[in-house]
Amino acid sequence: MKNTRLEDLIGLEYTKLGFFKEVQIKISELRASNLEVERKRQEIQAILDGITDVMAVVSLDFQILSVNHVFFECFEHKNPAGNFCYEVFRKQTQPCSPCPLVTAREENRVCRQMSICPLKGKNRQFEITASPLRDFRGKPFSILLVKRDVTLEKEYQAKYYQAEKMATIGVLAAGVAHEINNPLTAVSGFAEGLRRRLPRLKERLGQTEADRELWEDFQEYVETILSECNRCRDIVQSLLTFSPRKNTEFSPVNFNALVRNVLKLLRYQLKRYPPDSIALELDQNIPDVRGIAAELKQVVLNLVLNALDAIQQKGKIAIRTYRADPQWLVLSVSDSGCGISPEHSDKLFEPFFTTKPVGKGTGIGLSTCYNIIRQHGGEIVVNSEPGKGAVFEVRMPDKR
Ligand SMILES: Nc1ncnc2c1ncn2[C@@H]1O[C@H](COP(=O)(O)OP(=O)(O)O)[C@@H](O)[C@H]1O
Ligand SMILES: [Mg+2]
Repeated sequence: MKNTRLEDLIGLEYTKLGFFKEVQIKISELRASNLEVERKRQEIQAILDGITDVMAVVSLDFQILSVNHVFFECFEHKNPAGNFCYEVFRKQTQPCSPCPLVTAREENRVCRQMSICPLKGKNRQFEITASPLRDFRGKPFSILLVKRDVTLEKEYQAKYYQAEKMATIGVLAAGVAHEINNPLTAVSGFAEGLRRRLPRLKERLGQTEADRELWEDFQEYVETILSECNRCRDIVQSLLTFSPRKNTEFSPVNFNALVRNVLKLLRYQLKRYPPDSIALELDQNIPDVRGIAAELKQVVLNLVLNALDAIQQKGKIAIRTYRADPQWLVLSVSDSGCGISPEHSDKLFEPFFTTKPVGKGTGIGLSTCYNIIRQHGGEIVVNSEPGKGAVFEVRMPDKR
C-alpha cells in the first residue's frame, strides 16, 4: 500500500512536471506570438500614420468609433468617438443625402463620392471612400471612411484645362483677328476717303430739301461706319494679344501708379457713380513688377469697368495692392455687385463670353486680361459669391 502511494505520488509529480513544462512552452509561444502581434500592430500603425487622409471607423448607425491622427490636424473636434459622423464632419443634425456610408452598408460594397465640406472657414473638396468592414460571414459590422482632400488637385486640374482651352481658342482667335484685320483696314480706309470727299459732295448737291437730306444721310452713315470700324479694331487688337509675342521688352511698372492712371482715365464715367464708390488700399512700399505698362493698364481698366458694371451705381469697389507672400505681388479689384453664378465661373475667361446685353458687352475684356497676365508670367484668380460680389486678383511674380 505504501509502495502504491509512492508510485502514485511519483506519477503525480511527473504529471505536474509535464503540465508545467507544457505551460512553460505555451507561455513562451504566447510571448512569441504577442511579440508578433505587437510587431504587426506597429507595422499597421506605421502604415496608418503614413496615410495623409482623414480616416474614421464608423458604426452602421453613423457613430464614430475611432479616427486616425490626421483627423485631429484637420478638424477641431477633440473627442470625436461616440459622436455622429454627420455632426462632426458636416455640423448637420441628420445624415447627409446622399451618404456613402448608407450605400456601403446597404449594398455591402465600397462606395466613392465627391463632396464639398466646410473646413476651417473654407469650402474644401473631398473624395470620400466608404468601405464595409465585414465579419467572418461577410456581413458589414462597421464602415471605414477615408476622406481625401482633393481641393488643390482639382484646382490644378481646372487651371490646366483652362490653360489648354485658352491656348486652343487663342490660336483660333488670333487667326481670325489677322484675317479680319486686312478687310477692316480697307473698309475704314475707304470710309475715311468718303469722309474727306463729303465737303466736295456738298458743293455739288443742289439746295433742295431732298439734297440736304441726302448729304446728311451720307455724313451720318460714314461716321457710323468709321465708329463701328474703330470698335472692331479694338476687338481685333484685343484678340491679337492671344498670339505669342516675340522680343517683349519688360520694364518696371508700379501697381499703384497703374491704378491712379486708370482712375484718371475713368473720371468721366465715374461722375455717374457716388463719389465714395471706389476705395483704395494701396501698399505704398509695393515694389515694381516687370511688364508692359500699357497692357497692364488695360487689365486694370477691364477689371474696374467690370466691377462698375457689376455694382450698378449702388455697391462699393475696393482696389488693393499688396504683397501676398515672398514671391507674389497682388493687385485686387473687389466689388459688392451681382457676383458670378457657379455655372458661369469656368467660362469667364473665354473670348466672347458675356452676360451683358448686346451692345453693352463684347466678352473680350477678361480673355484679354488672362492673356496679358499669362504672358507676363502671372496669374489671375477670381473668387465670387453670387449676389454678394466678386474679387479679381492679378498676381504677378516679384522679379527684382
Ligand atoms: N466683377 C464682376 N462681377 C460679376 N460678373 C463679372 C464681373 N466681371 C466679369 N463678370 C462676368 O464676366 C463676363 C465677361 O466679362 P468680360 O470678358 O469683361 O466681358 P464683358 O464685360 O464685355 O461682358 C461678364 O459679362 C460678366 O458676366
Ligand atoms: Mg468687361
